[in-house]
Amino acid sequence: MTSGTPLTDFALNRFSPLRFDGTHTVTPTDLSTLLDAARRAPSAGNAQPWRFVVAHRGDDHHRRLVPHLARSSAQWAPEASVLLVAISHRWVEDTDLEYSEFAHYDLGQAVAHLTFQAWAMGLAVHQFRAFDKAGITAAFGVPEHLEVTTIAAIGRPADDAANLSGAGTSRERRSVAEVTWPPAHQWKRPPGR
Ligand SMILES: Cc1cc2nc3c(=O)[nH]c(=O)nc-3n(C[C@H](O)[C@H](O)[C@H](O)COP(=O)(O)O)c2cc1C
Repeated sequence: MTSGTPLTDFALNRFSPLRFDGTHTVTPTDLSTLLDAARRAPSAGNAQPWRFVVAHRGDDHHRRLVPHLARSSAQWAPEASVLLVAISHRWVEDTDLEYSEFAHYDLGQAVAHLTFQAWAMGLAVHQFRAFDKAGITAAFGVPEHLEVTTIAAIGRPADDAANLSGAGTSRERRSVAEVTWPPAHQWKRPPGR
């Protein structure tokens, strides 16, 4: 183990809130900053294979989106100031040119960059997949060459003890040893191999 530079506050303390402050509003300027962070993310061949539907709590997009949330996410996500539908490209419109195999990977990076920026602004992000994908695709007229992938709920976490339990699933992480390859016990190969 190396010692030295400690983890950033973001790496150490970021979490996906289970409760958002329903009185807090992310301003249009703040949202623009968040999307600016997202669009600056790296992507394979600089393809930038992402689009976002922005729904502010109480606006028309929000009213259109919320009925398509699954029962689980409907319990907490509508309280967030913004719901951002993250969309990736499948192919180039009106062609048979497929987008890079990294489209989902790239979109994930863009959302990660947005999440990092949000944390620096005192906001938190909870990404989720618990929604009716076909329903949202139809509700927003998302064409076939684009794919609704995830939603990011963005806002100020509620000051609520329930938030501390994270996203309702285990927040335990695999150790650094577990996430490196090859596993340490495989490093010594038997003679002759
Ligand atoms: C692609 C993706 C899909 C997710 N889907 C859901 C979901 O449907 N419902 C939910 O409550 N959380 C969802 N999450 C949040 C994860 O459960 C959460 O990030 C994980 O448990 C770790 O917790 P933490 O973000 O608080 O560290 C999703 C996260 C990602 C990146």
